Amino acid sequence: MSNVDILVTAPLPPFLYDPLKADYRTHDYSQAADKPAFLASVGARVRGLVQGGGTVTPTTLLDGLPKLEIISVFGVGYDGVPVPYCKERGIRVTNTPDVLTDDVADVAVALVMMTGRGFVRLNRFVHAGEWKQRGPELTMKLSGKRVGIVGLGRIGKAIAHRLAAMGMSIAYTGRKPQDVPYAFVPDLRALAAQSEFLVIACPGGPATRNLIDADVLKALGPKGVLVNIARGSIVDEPALVDALQKGIIGGAGLDVFADEPHIPEALFAMHNVVLLPHVGSATHETRRAMGDLCKANLDAWFNEHRTLTLIPELA
Ligand code: 8YV
Repeated sequence: MSNVDILVTAPLPPFLYDPLKADYRTHDYSQAADKPAFLASVGARVRGLVQGGGTVTPTTLLDGLPKLEIISVFGVGYDGVPVPYCKERGIRVTNTPDVLTDDVADVAVALVMMTGRGFVRLNRFVHAGEWKQRGPELTMKLSGKRVGIVGLGRIGKAIAHRLAAMGMSIAYTGRKPQDVPYAFVPDLRALAAQSEFLVIACPGGPATRNLIDADVLKALGPKGVLVNIARGSIVDEPALVDALQKGIIGGAGLDVFADEPHIPEALFAMHNVVLLPHVGSATHETRRAMGDLCKANLDAWFNEHRTLTLIPELA
């Protein structure tokens, strides 16, 4: 397949990039200084594109790739891909579901524990030698507390499973009720109002932009904690900062942000906020499995004219 040209629009780890380079003619658009000139020189030959989960691919870029057949996303989220445009042009879009579900769910559980049980503050307390001066603060018992999950897909279910095993009570909202042992609450505000933890696990994109707004945060209330492992775009970030500053909600555990790696500075000083640098899938094992699946989708397409994990909208 060394005669197939692939455009790479995000920095990739060597365990994905090296095998890609071995089997394809790769073109690193992400590092190109003059992107329009780069595109003008290789765009007409490009038949495949590799991008990250958070990469935004504008239609203007795709307009410069007339022979494009497939976009293989290195990630489960494909909110940066203009899906209706791809459908129109017959461009296949694949992602990396399943292989990262457990790791992302683990991070959601960690954020519930770190915010609820104050583990980050307590860790700082010991490191700073403060234990010698006074005893640690008391925190919140988690067993028995109510969790509302926004989006009960694969990752949402894995989160529910873990938190239920900790004795937490699970309810969820989404497009429709599912055959699961958790309460379905159709109204997001009602779910927030009844929850101590509101955990976001739905896809990003236009349909969920700013879904968690000032009203939802108000419903979550001064003892409620927002956890987000999905996409920053789902939360109205200025409204979140305001809600935290004014005590409208009790805290937040965030792995994702609207404009990564830029985080509203006001969050840095807040002791009731735990911030992670988008590490849901960031383990050696899982990133390798994602890399393997990302390349396997290209291989399946260019060798056998099939895909392994086509996104549902195009299936
Ligand atoms: C990765 C993600 O950070 O899978 C996703 O959608 O957001 C993360 O797993 C990203 O895709 C790596 O490119």
